[in-house]
Amino acid sequence: MAKIELKGITKIYDGNVLAVERSNVTIEDREFCVFVGPSGCGKSTTLRMIAGLEDITGGQLLIDGEVMNDVPPRDRNIAMVFQDYALYPHMTVYDNMAYGLKIRKIDKEEIDRRVREASKILDLDTYLDRKPKALSGGQRQRVAVGRAIVRSPKVFLFDEPLSNLDAKLRVQMRAEISALHSRLQATMIYVTHDQIEAMTMGTKIVVMSEKRIQQIGAPLYLYNHPINKFVAGFIGTPPMNFFKVKIEANGDKVVANEGTFKLVPTENQQKHLKAYVGKEVWFGIRPEDLIYQDAPAAENNISVKVTNKEPLGAETHVFVQIQNTKVVAKCHPSVNPKLGDTVNFVPRIDKCKFFDFDTEINICEPEIEKTW
Ligand SMILES: Nc1ncnc2c1ncn2[C@@H]1O[C@H](COP(=O)(O)OP(=O)(O)O)[C@@H](O)[C@H]1O
Ligand SMILES: [Mg+2]
Repeated sequence: MAKIELKGITKIYDGNVLAVERSNVTIEDREFCVFVGPSGCGKSTTLRMIAGLEDITGGQLLIDGEVMNDVPPRDRNIAMVFQDYALYPHMTVYDNMAYGLKIRKIDKEEIDRRVREASKILDLDTYLDRKPKALSGGQRQRVAVGRAIVRSPKVFLFDEPLSNLDAKLRVQMRAEISALHSRLQATMIYVTHDQIEAMTMGTKIVVMSEKRIQQIGAPLYLYNHPINKFVAGFIGTPPMNFFKVKIEANGDKVVANEGTFKLVPTENQQKHLKAYVGKEVWFGIRPEDLIYQDAPAAENNISVKVTNKEPLGAETHVFVQIQNTKVVAKCHPSVNPKLGDTVNFVPRIDKCKFFDFDTEINICEPEIEKTW
């Protein structure tokens, strides 16, 4: 059992560097939880506080209901895997995995049993006599994971463990770590700046920015219901497009006026946008929700010039300019306009988001549950 609760956790380094501000999140027993956010947002600090490698400035850390703030790292039963996993170069794979257990004075037979079991799980059993320099990058990363597994911890913490690997290997290791989670049935917290890693691995994603948790949720929930412009732009690839629109009254309805085109929000969006008549808001649309038209549509048509295109085989990304922003649409590969051509799109308006210009809050979905 290992349920982890962060209650108002704050970290201030050296008395004045705020690194994490009042984090509230519960990670259930056996959950795979991913913390994701740009560099410097406080992910590693959060993980290091959970591991006990960093003092907690404010708030409480609970594991299975017990306050852990002052419990030393070795008594927390947590293992951490870092990006820079630094294996001992002069030791074999076997000794690298066994080392942590030896210094804990675990008996030899037990160490042997655990190292052999972990190496089987990780497909390293035929490499036990090798030194790290005779391994591939992926194998070295597996040894680092092996060092954590042999300790049979209640909780695994991963801090960007795949950042040093090439793209193909990252995809493979991503699947291996997910499989490991199902196999070990342990609580895992995984930190990454890569939203694709977060989306593909996590059952719960914690999105951080600027030292604070922005939103917590399942991958597709965050994709469909981002609480603010930051989350909307961070989750999804290519990212959501944003441009400004002015909300204007039109009888008892409102329209979103971009200047060169007008969009009619859905009934539900209308309800929330009425309060914004006369104001500018951010309009957000994902590349996959901007639908290419063979001919201009009667309503909600966006007519724009093509500035660039990227044929990727399975789809083509068509770039246009709206205001000062490059806007991208994911199109069928048969869509093949020339640069400078005028093309037409209709947005899937029910998927579009409107964000308050100042607070950047998602205006039309106030029901998004805030649990942090
Ligand atoms: N040991 C430290 N001393 C002072 N400031 C630190 C220290 N470690 C991290 N920070 C600062 O805390 C903030 C969060 O850092 P970190 O948790 O490493 O972010 P992330 O892992 O998301 O990239 C950053 O502004 C960083 O400069
Ligand atoms: Mg970090």
